[in-house]
Amino acid sequence: MSRGDEPAPESTPVDTAAPPAGGAPAAALAAPPCVVRSRGELAEALAASPRPLGLVPTMGWLHAGHRSLIARARAECATVAVSIFVNPRQFGDPADLAKYPRSESRDLAICADEGADLVWAPDVADVYPPGFDTSVRVGALARPLEGAARPGHFEGVTTVVAVLFGLVRPDRAYFGAKDAQQLRVITRMATDLALTSVVPCPTVRELDGLALSSRNVHLSPAERAAAPVLHRALLAGRARHAAGERDAEAIRAAVREVLATEPLARVEYVSLADDATLAELQRVEGPALLSLAVRFGATRLIDNLSLA
Ligand code: PAJ
Repeated sequence: MSRGDEPAPESTPVDTAAPPAGGAPAAALAAPPCVVRSRGELAEALAASPRPLGLVPTMGWLHAGHRSLIARARAECATVAVSIFVNPRQFGDPADLAKYPRSESRDLAICADEGADLVWAPDVADVYPPGFDTSVRVGALARPLEGAARPGHFEGVTTVVAVLFGLVRPDRAYFGAKDAQQLRVITRMATDLALTSVVPCPTVRELDGLALSSRNVHLSPAERAAAPVLHRALLAGRARHAAGERDAEAIRAAVREVLATEPLARVEYVSLADDATLAELQRVEGPALLSLAVRFGATRLIDNLSLA
């Protein structure tokens, strides 16, 4: 077990006092997090960690979206744990897994900056030891949209998140609305299996509207310049809804019309679905989720907005 690049301490002497009301926990910000890898090291660190414990599961290459989750956990929990694990089971395409960006030193600096107490950065064999032969599958919520586009993806996500929950036993787990279907699928699993309380956190965007994503690093300069069309298109759909349009296809068409102005964008889907069930709508009579998946070259981006 190590704290950043420093020698291993005897225990976990992080400042875990509850943050002062309305302010950042100054003492916690100063200390680098305790970094653990094996299941044994994790258990030892957890035993010394006061509750409530908030977990922020990530695949690393941390950005302002991840930061917002860690900051929210910091504001609400005595102990903040961040997991960094690029989960092979949720990647259908081995090339996609191979090119997933990684930098542990950069990630640890961000975790320290946000005042995380504990970083769990396991190897594949720590998460999936020899003989591992279980998978967790959520039903209807996991089937459309990303589930249809990426077969096996959500089974990989729910299986790894179930292992993370089982080993960390968080009181709360923080997930971003950026991955709207993932948030719903994990919330379903956590509720059905009585695992933990899932805290949804809003999407963090660049000033030009592009949602922060680890995959944005793969965009060429031209693709990066084109990518904010996703948010503009979603806003056009939301504006149609706000103007009183209730025909779902008309709203989807308004989104597609904006996407069509960008030659580099190859649209995979535009969806307007019931917010709770993710079933595609004909008419929008209640809370709805407007979402899309678009490719720019080899990079696939997803984004969404809620229609209240
Ligand atoms: P990753 O893509 O690293 O995202 C980790 C968490 O950060 C997720 O909850 C995601 O929704 C959130 N997040 C990403 N971009 C965000 C943004 N722009 N604003 C707010 N939150 C954002 O999602 C995964 O990893 C994995 O599937 C995981 C859940 C860790 C399982 O392997």
